[in-house]
Amino acid sequence: MSDQTTGVAPDGETNVPHPTDEAGISVAVEAALAAIEAASDLNELKEARLSHTGEKSALSLANRQIGKLDKSEKAVAGKLVGSARGRVNKALSARTVVLEEAEAARILVEETVDVTAAPRRRSVGARHPLSVLQDRVSDIFVGMGWEIAEGPEVESEWFNFDALNFKPDHPAREMQDTFFIEPADAHLVLRTHTSPVQVRSMLQREVPVYVLCPGRTFRTDELDATHTPVFHQFEGLAVDKGLTMADLRGTLEHFARQMFGEEAQIRLRPAYFPFTEPSAELDIWHPGAKGGPRWIEWGGCGMINPNVLRAAGIDPEEYSGFAFGMGIERTLMFRNDVPDMHDMIEGDIRFSQHFGMEI
Ligand code: DAH
Repeated sequence: MSDQTTGVAPDGETNVPHPTDEAGISVAVEAALAAIEAASDLNELKEARLSHTGEKSALSLANRQIGKLDKSEKAVAGKLVGSARGRVNKALSARTVVLEEAEAARILVEETVDVTAAPRRRSVGARHPLSVLQDRVSDIFVGMGWEIAEGPEVESEWFNFDALNFKPDHPAREMQDTFFIEPADAHLVLRTHTSPVQVRSMLQREVPVYVLCPGRTFRTDELDATHTPVFHQFEGLAVDKGLTMADLRGTLEHFARQMFGEEAQIRLRPAYFPFTEPSAELDIWHPGAKGGPRWIEWGGCGMINPNVLRAAGIDPEEYSGFAFGMGIERTLMFRNDVPDMHDMIEGDIRFSQHFGMEI
């Protein structure tokens, strides 16, 4: 080869030095070393390796020519090109080590996990304690084989009062207690208690009937610490052959212990409700009450008045039944120590979160 310069010709072809051309080989080596040194990451180094040690590189092509040389030149060329390639390979290895370390260091920094960083928290909501408590009550009765029944919140006056043996002049019918729906001759009210679901359940189902009816109820009370115009009750109803006050007592006692612990007791005090006879107020001996164990008024109960059974088409000579009703807000107040009704209705999530998902 007459042209013994090295470098890249304008057409992209590499000029190959003669394998005995010390200066030409040296230029190729310097070019390789410069490219290796200039490589700033492993990808660039790979490119440098390909162009300076690959099959078409000046040094490889020069090396290939050695075989065609005279014996006298072979030894000189072999030594020259061999040591040239050796230098380049050594530089490649050294640069590889440096760049691999740099790469590892970069990854360590870029992918660092700061275990002390404050996590981005997504705040977990909570169900309202009234809903949780309502579910808990329902679960206890479902556990005894009872069914859950529901009725409308806008109720006919007949279900809310008449069928429950309220006489036409009963004071609960007065405007100041009940929300009446216009027009008045539609005889619709916002139900003042869950007791109308008793009558609906008896009409809808075959006896025997064992149902728990939780739901929203309405009365024209001003909102204060212990009253709210919209509140919740649950109503229990059992109709079967031969049910007595002992069944009522046993059921309520079991329920009370599930809700308030094994030491809970109940007490029945004579009372009056139009839809039960005899009727009683139910007190609970609350072992965990704030300020120490004590009796707390919890709800009403009694044996279903025969007039109510008749209104629902059930023969009181053949069947008897018991019923009870309690307020959910009131239960939450003394069971979970919530002294002010406002907290239950304001919808501040901090109130709900404080109770968690189970109460
Ligand atoms: N409905 C009554 C009220 O709202 C509560 C009640 C009392 C329900 C006695 C009953 C019962 O089933 O037997 O005050």
